[in-house]
Amino acid sequence: MRGKFITFEGGEGAGKSTQVTRLADRLRVRGIEVVTTREPGGSPGAEAMRMLLLEGVVKPLGPTAETMIFAAARDDHVHTVIEPALARGAWVICDRFIDSTRVYQGALGNVDRRIIRALERVTIADAMPNLTFVLDVPVEVGLARVKGRGEASDRFESEDTEFHIQLREAFRDVVQAEPERCVLIDASQQADAVTARIWLAVTERLLKDRVARTAPRAAS
Ligand code: TYD
Repeated sequence: MRGKFITFEGGEGAGKSTQVTRLADRLRVRGIEVVTTREPGGSPGAEAMRMLLLEGVVKPLGPTAETMIFAAARDDHVHTVIEPALARGAWVICDRFIDSTRVYQGALGNVDRRIIRALERVTIADAMPNLTFVLDVPVEVGLARVKGRGEASDRFESEDTEFHIQLREAFRDVVQAEPERCVLIDASQQADAVTARIWLAVTERLLKDRVARTAPRAAS
């Protein structure tokens, strides 16, 4: 049986990486093979492109070219890591995916939506996420968390506060537009509460199905 594909999205400091690890652990306890990965990057070729993207080397080429580099990285990642894992029945959890492009390059970068959708068709083929969590935090909370981690800010984290406000709105719009795939999670709660909320959605939306299909038939 083909595996399930789960993505995590959201602004800075939403706590995605913690939740990716926790969800993977819970699924593994149930005997499911899980591959965790991230974008931009996730495969050797895409990691090379990640450096160019996050260090701002690509920015001077303009938003459309930047979108294409994100797409090129995604193409390699999908074809060498994500698709083979799903095909062998593993579940894949990815930190950022197509919705980051829709939001950062599309909604905020003003790249034409038709270009973004066309690149999606080429790069992801059948690897559309089954479930996407959008971790939502007030901008001040997210930025304070990033500062608290003491990380050097990358090209996107150093944008101004107004940018982050628009970012949050754009991610909320993504959930509204595709409620059958996306779940908005209040990530300002304690990490344990966020984990519990995510687990509930995975159980309801993905695991029920699996249990029903693998359960022995009742005697008639
Ligand atoms: P990263 O350090 O992985 O940040 P985070 O911890 O916030 O996930 O940096 C990824 C950055 O790249 C992030 O600011 C969002 C941006 N990005 C895009 O602009 N478009 C994309 O398609 C992807 C995948 C990421």
